[in-house]
Amino acid sequence: MKILVTGGAGYIASHTNLELLQAGYEVVVADNLSNSSMESIHRVEKLTGKKITFYEADILDKERLSNIFVQEGIHSVIHFAGLKAVGESCAIPLKYFRNNLSGTITLLEVMQEYNVKNLVFSSSATVYGDPEKVPVTEDMPLSATNPYGRTKLMIEEMLRDLYRSDASWNIAILRYFNPIGAHESGEIGEDPNGIPNNLVPYVAKVAIGELEKVNVFGDDYDTPDGTGIRDYIHVVDLARGHIKAIEKLTQNPGLVVYNLGTGVGYSVLDIIHNYEKACNKTIPYAVTPRRPGDIAVSYADATKAYQELGWKAEKGIDKMCEDSFRWQSKYPKGYKN
Ligand code: NAD
Ligand code: WQD
Repeated sequence: MKILVTGGAGYIASHTNLELLQAGYEVVVADNLSNSSMESIHRVEKLTGKKITFYEADILDKERLSNIFVQEGIHSVIHFAGLKAVGESCAIPLKYFRNNLSGTITLLEVMQEYNVKNLVFSSSATVYGDPEKVPVTEDMPLSATNPYGRTKLMIEEMLRDLYRSDASWNIAILRYFNPIGAHESGEIGEDPNGIPNNLVPYVAKVAIGELEKVNVFGDDYDTPDGTGIRDYIHVVDLARGHIKAIEKLTQNPGLVVYNLGTGVGYSVLDIIHNYEKACNKTIPYAVTPRRPGDIAVSYADATKAYQELGWKAEKGIDKMCEDSFRWQSKYPKGYKN
């Protein structure tokens, strides 16, 4: 069965490609390489001993996308392609709207035209805004606190409208919590451009001595140690959730929504201390003011994914930190080495 993976050279997609190939699927990637490198594709091919069909393609380019559907006989699409930096989305929202919204509309139009109506969509826990209670369940109210989050929310709404108009679509909306870590080979991982915005990639750079110290954004939240709490999930567990979602789509479920998280929350200081164990070094840090827009606590209730997909996260925080550190120390410059 052939799966088109948009944004397939990126962080979560590269781990998903590996799981797809190992599970016997054929993988076709469309990526404009705006935030990724061909090297991730080559590494996955090497790790699995299987080929990926790669198209350097922008999902805004309808002709190019159509050509892929004509050539390949796609069965289902996993749609990762998108811009994801929250801060940047506040500075240049139109770029985010153009890329994420117009890109998705173009993809959906082409899928409809070629009668490929199986879709897995990368949504985010950000669609819960500042949740009124935790753990977060899929039926809780949705809102957005920044333009990036708004693109995820708007795409979810578009998908619900599309499904209402035509029930022959099968759509799995996956709401990821905080993906971290890397494949245990250390050959693929997260490779952010410049100084990382997210906590664990930043801690990883401090661990290898590339950055001096971690800035802890606020220690006055209403949490046990005062720092923000999140549901960090190993990227390989997350990738496996996509295989389960693809399997689910073959049962014609209609439109389904799942949280993909571990159900466990860790604070910023928990992460720093767990990372210290993984790298066997002290991670210097300093408390700074809160980052605007951050919430105190978010973690998932992932029961629905367990009940309906038979999926649950298996890797704990030790493994997440160990695998992150292995990738970071093996390839300090990421795919640019
Ligand atoms: P990533 O940046 O590593 O991967 C996204 C990929 O999409 C990149 O390879 C990029 O080159 C490609 N891309 C972007 N715009 C494109 C376009 N117009 N045409 C073709 N390719 C394009 O990011 P990731 O962390 O792997 O995230 C994958 C998806 O999951 C994104 O949609 C993101 O919003 C979502 N998500 C990520 C997180 C996270 O914390 N990493 C959390 C929740 C949701
Ligand atoms: C985690 C915690 C920070 C950096 C973001 C997006 C979300 C999703 C995942 C895509 C928070 C604290 C961070 C640092 C710190 N992405 N922190 N120092 O903000 O939960 O989620 O990525 O969908 O939409 O918003 O993740 O890793 O940035 O922050 O103290 O240098 O670490 O305040 O409590 P976040 P994060």
